[in-house]
Amino acid sequence: MNRLCKTLLTVALLVWSSHGKEMTEIEVLGAQPTHCTYEYAYEMYGAHCASRRLSKIPKLKSGIEILDFSDNKLQELNADTLASYTSIKFLYLADNHIYLIDEDAFSGLTDLQTLDLANNVILELPRSIFQLPSLRKLYLRGNPIFYKNINSLDQVKPIKAPLDLLDLSDCKMKELPNLGYLPQLQFYNISHNPLTSLSTSHFAVMCNLVKVDLTDSISTMKLCSLRSTLLWFQQKKVFFQIEDYSRFNTREFANCPVPDDGGNLNATYHHCKAEYLQVQSIKTSRRTWLTIGGGLAGFLVGFILLLWVMHRHNVAQTKTKAEKIKQATPRDADKNASANLLNDVA
Ligand SMILES: *[C@@H]1O[C@H](CO)[C@@H](O)[C@H](O)[C@H]1NC(C)=O
Ligand SMILES: *[C@@H]1O[C@H](CO)[C@@H](O)[C@H](O)[C@H]1NC(C)=O
Repeated sequence: MNRLCKTLLTVALLVWSSHGKEMTEIEVLGAQPTHCTYEYAYEMYGAHCASRRLSKIPKLKSGIEILDFSDNKLQELNADTLASYTSIKFLYLADNHIYLIDEDAFSGLTDLQTLDLANNVILELPRSIFQLPSLRKLYLRGNPIFYKNINSLDQVKPIKAPLDLLDLSDCKMKELPNLGYLPQLQFYNISHNPLTSLSTSHFAVMCNLVKVDLTDSISTMKLCSLRSTLLWFQQKKVFFQIEDYSRFNTREFANCPVPDDGGNLNATYHHCKAEYLQVQSIKTSRRTWLTIGGGLAGFLVGFILLLWVMHRHNVAQTKTKAEKIKQATPRDADKNASANLLNDVA
């Protein structure tokens, strides 16, 4: 009897406590806003819709430059989902349930600089993403993109997007995708992937690479298979991040044979550098022309302003002269008159 009472009491307590917990969760959820808010930051208009439990992007002001829609329940990006927001520069769609992206979902977003699609369930990526003319940062972390088909992106080459950051961490990749030349790429995150090989040629097409994150991606690979790529990183001053460097401070590693590729990699690297310099020089010349054009326009405006001021000054002067003459005329007449008078007297 006593035991039964105790059990009942415990059950009652459990029910009550779990009930209490639920209440607070509901309260927390209830306290969250359910609509997007607008904000003006960094001289840009942004719509903030993060963590609103939304399964659709609501109708927003069309001039927004930032859209934060992370941590919602979006599943599909159709051709018209973002079609009215062509000024977007920063688009955050991480932590949704996106599994389907239309080939044209981003095609109107020619100003898009940062695209965060991390932690969705994307299996296939539209190729048009890699041709966006302003895209510099692309986050694909935590998607099974290359799980099915590593060569699904073979047709995106050559990539036109000026990517300087590519995050492919935690994408379940066994091999790295071949994306062709990426001359602007500086930060490459391929950590937390079960890679089975790491070929040097994969990195020779990234001639401005500063840092590559390989944490938890190469620890199961044979030591000697890594030697030539790690040597390449050293040679090209690429910082590589791994969880444990001690494996590479061994005599075993130092004695690994390094295959001679006959300068192919250097040729690829220099081709990449040449491409980079070309893009830079186009940028510089565009900037120069903009400066010259801007200077000329400024000069012209100044000149026209000066002409106008001079004109106004002349008009004013002519007016005062005319007025002076008007005022002066009777006095001169007086003078003449008095002179005449004097003459007459004389
Ligand atoms: C690479 O991505 C992981 C998450 O997947 C992150 O923890 C890490 O900080 C990133 N590395 C760099 C260098 O940003
Ligand atoms: C490639 O270039 C590096 C210098 O950047 C040089 O040390 C190396 O010997 C070159 N390799 C070949 C095969 O030409």
